[in-house]
Amino acid sequence: MSSVKRCRPTSTRGLPALLIGALILTGGSATAAQQDTLHELAAAQDTLHELAEAQGKYFGSATDNPELPDAAYSAILGSEFGQITPGNSMKWDTTEPVQGQFNFAKGDVITEFAAQHGQTVRGHTLVWHSQLPGWVGALPPAQVEAAMTRHVTEEATHYRGAVTAWDVVNEPFNEDGTFRTSPFYTAMGRDYIATALRAARAADPDAELYLNDYNIEGLGAKSDAMYALVRELLDEGVPLDGVGMQAHLAVQYGFPYQMRANMQRFADLGLDVAVTELDVRMQLPADTAKTATQSSYYRQVVEACLAVERCVGLTVWDYTDKYSWVPSAFPGQGAANLYDENLLPKPAYSAVRTALGGEDDGGEGGEPGVLKAQYRSNDSSARDNQIKPGLQLVNTGSATVSLSDVKVRYWFTSENGASAYSTWCDWSPIGCSTVTHRVVAAGVPKTGADHYLEVGFRSGSLAPGASTGEIQLRLNKADWSNFDESDDYSHGSGTSYADASKIVVYVGGEQAWGIEP
Ligand code: XIL
Repeated sequence: MSSVKRCRPTSTRGLPALLIGALILTGGSATAAQQDTLHELAAAQDTLHELAEAQGKYFGSATDNPELPDAAYSAILGSEFGQITPGNSMKWDTTEPVQGQFNFAKGDVITEFAAQHGQTVRGHTLVWHSQLPGWVGALPPAQVEAAMTRHVTEEATHYRGAVTAWDVVNEPFNEDGTFRTSPFYTAMGRDYIATALRAARAADPDAELYLNDYNIEGLGAKSDAMYALVRELLDEGVPLDGVGMQAHLAVQYGFPYQMRANMQRFADLGLDVAVTELDVRMQLPADTAKTATQSSYYRQVVEACLAVERCVGLTVWDYTDKYSWVPSAFPGQGAANLYDENLLPKPAYSAVRTALGGEDDGGEGGEPGVLKAQYRSNDSSARDNQIKPGLQLVNTGSATVSLSDVKVRYWFTSENGASAYSTWCDWSPIGCSTVTHRVVAAGVPKTGADHYLEVGFRSGSLAPGASTGEIQLRLNKADWSNFDESDDYSHGSGTSYADASKIVVYVGGEQAWGIEP
């Protein structure tokens, strides 16, 4: 894949995802001054793919046809990522729903999008037990080989030149490393894999041919089985270029054991390795601990790929929670992707950027997501005319954070829509004169959150491990009417300081802690 030339210059490549989203939302027009700012920022921030490319890898995302009309979504898809994989539209049930009737219209939309955005395409997938039309399973076993060969030949031929790598066979193994039963295995035994690979090579000699599976990211019975299979195939001279590791991870199951060593043993056979379907799900609701674990898993996957020369790149299984397959496939789980449902980057996004060598907003050597907010209520009554949050920030990272880059939001409801507020810093060991505070009305009011108290700093810095110490804050409405704090998003009743995920911290404008309302 690394030898494939992509045509790079496109209109939006290099623009930060959020700004593109903003441009889309405002109808795509920007004043000359805004354009200048956009260009400055574009120069300042590389895309995920550009960061990966500087390390000789690609960074891609799955996508699906129904998502593409979402302009804000497709703007980010087209700019931040250098490779795309169709989530569904090249699968057998779409491309040959009836025997001999091929339909590549949906897949063509994906390859067309890629061509317009200078992206490569991983074709997914030619032979798989799932999303397989019923007619294949109903064939007499003696007819399955011919049907499979025809399917592989027709599809790989159609996408010659447009698809750079194929998941020729998807998910051939059971968890214990035995071959999964499928119409193909039943008809041909393990030979179906070699037959499919040979047919794919004959149809498109230029495409890289992969076997792809999940739970083969770490060392274990299933990856041992894949390792044994690919060794045999290579010994037999079967065309095979790489192994795809899906990497559908979950914070509750732990990080794959020895992922880097596992990748390396495949690489040592002369194969490429790709992370093909990365996401990191969690049991909902998300909290700060799960979110931090998720960021660390994303980071470790990127680090493993960077450490193995033959790891050619990474693909996330769509980049946003808005279009994740997780909630429907794993009920009760979600929040698995790099961007949230509003297409805003999450801490995992920052972790990936940092792992790819990108500069982050915490400054040189820093890492966003390394500040945490702690909170206690200094208020004995949740129904009086003042709100009295006590906040402190702790630097949990390894680099000093400049406090003037930091903003904190405490979300509450105004009750009567009062527009004027007074805000106060009553006491802090860092000195209230360095603390700024104001109330801002939410653009889009959310449950328990139509206003926020924004806290900032005029100067100062926070060394690794250091805390600001408590900042005693207070606010009231100009008309001194009462609040009902009990339903306020950021309100808590604890009277000693504790990590507070509903207080959101931004460093350099990017979210570094907490969950937005
Ligand atoms: C998923 C798609 O994302 C869903 O939209 C679809 O309903 C089911 O398949 N492993 C794979 C992918 O190889 O093809 C799967 O994609 C996710 C798991």
